[in-house]
Amino acid sequence: DRGADATQDLAGRKVVVSAGGTREYLDPVRFIGNRSSGLQGYALARAAASRGAHVTLVSANVTLPDPAGVSVVRVETTEQLREAVVTATATADAVVMAAAPADFRPTAVSEAKIKKADDGSAPAIELAQNPDILAEISHDRARPDAVIVGFAAETGDATGSVLDLARAKLARKGCDLLVVNDVSGGAVFGSADNEAVVLAADGAAVEVPRGSKTALAHVIWNEVARRFAG
Ligand code: CTP
Ligand code: CA
Repeated sequence: DRGADATQDLAGRKVVVSAGGTREYLDPVRFIGNRSSGLQGYALARAAASRGAHVTLVSANVTLPDPAGVSVVRVETTEQLREAVVTATATADAVVMAAAPADFRPTAVSEAKIKKADDGSAPAIELAQNPDILAEISHDRARPDAVIVGFAAETGDATGSVLDLARAKLARKGCDLLVVNDVSGGAVFGSADNEAVVLAADGAAVEVPRGSKTALAHVIWNEVARRFAG
């Protein structure tokens, strides 16, 4: 962590960070959701605030305490996350999408609690694809000069390595930076540590060795601040 002598290189900047995982309700008590502790997003919000930024933290189902000096907007679903992020992005210098939005939602939400059938059968759930928030704010930019950052957790598969898939995702989303976690060796969920590569749309790659989520947050803001300056 940085001390009282921390640089104020984000002073006067407005930044938006999303954190946590969204939930899509089937009925009033059940949801399908995306697993995310919110630790990396909260570390990003705290790091930006410590560097002087005005921070809006859009938080989906996170149980961590509110970071000091940060505006927190609470959401549950991907559509609510989209609404809050798009609204805050209109005036933002930078946006970091650290949240894990549920990619799918049930096509219908039952107002009444779904009851179990006596015959042991289970209901089929029809799903629809959710909007892609990162792609939307990147392709349809409110401010052409804003720096937009996405995250990707990849394992690599038969079609490509972790970095191949990440490069393709960066191009598809249209964001400026993509923070890539290699999760093939096991999950990083809930861990205090992280290890990543920050890929840039211009082809640059910054490797971040295993370290705290706060340390990774500062590397990400360094890359954002460089783009403000340049
Ligand atoms: N993201 C988003 N809206 C979505 C899904 C993802 O804004 N509906 C953002 C995430 O916050 C993250 C980035 O996109 O910053 C990459 O998320 P990821 O789940 O890796 O991308 P997907 O396009 O959903 O691809 P995949 O099929 O690999 O899940
Ligand atoms: Ca996804």
